[in-house]
Amino acid sequence: MESLKQKILTEGKVLSDSVVKVDSFLNHQVDPAFMHAIGEAFASHFAGSNITKILTLESSGIAPAVMTGLCMDVPVIFARKRKSLTLNEGLYSADVYSYTKEETNQISLSDDYITSEDTILIIDDILANGQAALGLVDLTEQAGAALEGIGIVVEKGFQKGKAMLSDRGIRVESLATIASLKNGRITFENEEAI
Ligand code: G4P
Ligand code: NA
Ligand code: NA
Repeated sequence: MESLKQKILTEGKVLSDSVVKVDSFLNHQVDPAFMHAIGEAFASHFAGSNITKILTLESSGIAPAVMTGLCMDVPVIFARKRKSLTLNEGLYSADVYSYTKEETNQISLSDDYITSEDTILIIDDILANGQAALGLVDLTEQAGAALEGIGIVVEKGFQKGKAMLSDRGIRVESLATIASLKNGRITFENEEAI
């Protein structure tokens, strides 16, 4: 998605060889019109499949997931990272280890919203080592639902997530894939350094 790559190049801040800050449009501030275009891009990638629901993880996955749900006309469910006051029984849960943060979080989902009748599209903001995505796949399997694929806004292609998910036979569609962040420069896959 060309406009997304331009946004990453102009607004992204390279914090290290492996981390890029994209708070201005993805992880803190949201540009609704731009996010709507992201939803349209996912809807067109997954057009023709019989997706019944979209699953994401709070918090930064919610905006792209909701816009995708709007464009595909299906409900959106976000798995929770912390225990909720009202969400405490009939839960599916999975442990997600973050290599970046060196901590494990339990994510959870009510069994009310995903059933064996559903075909799920998982949406997330960033794919690094793929542990969050794997946790969402785990929740989908616990619910007995079918998985159509995973849509990612920004993939870090130099980390392990994409290969790990593809090895499991999961379809992963990323709107922008960063090849490298070395020397403070952002380069995308299949492109010369810009
Ligand atoms: P993984 O799920 O792919 O294995 O990723 P990891 O544990 O490394 O990611 C932990 C958190 O850090 C996730 O957000 C993820 O989106 C974010 N993250 C990882 N690499 C980058 C990066 O290069 N840039 C940015 N901006 N974020 C990155 P989270 O804790 O779930 O937060 P949020 O959803 O509340 O924003
Ligand atoms: Na994030
Ligand atoms: Na996320």
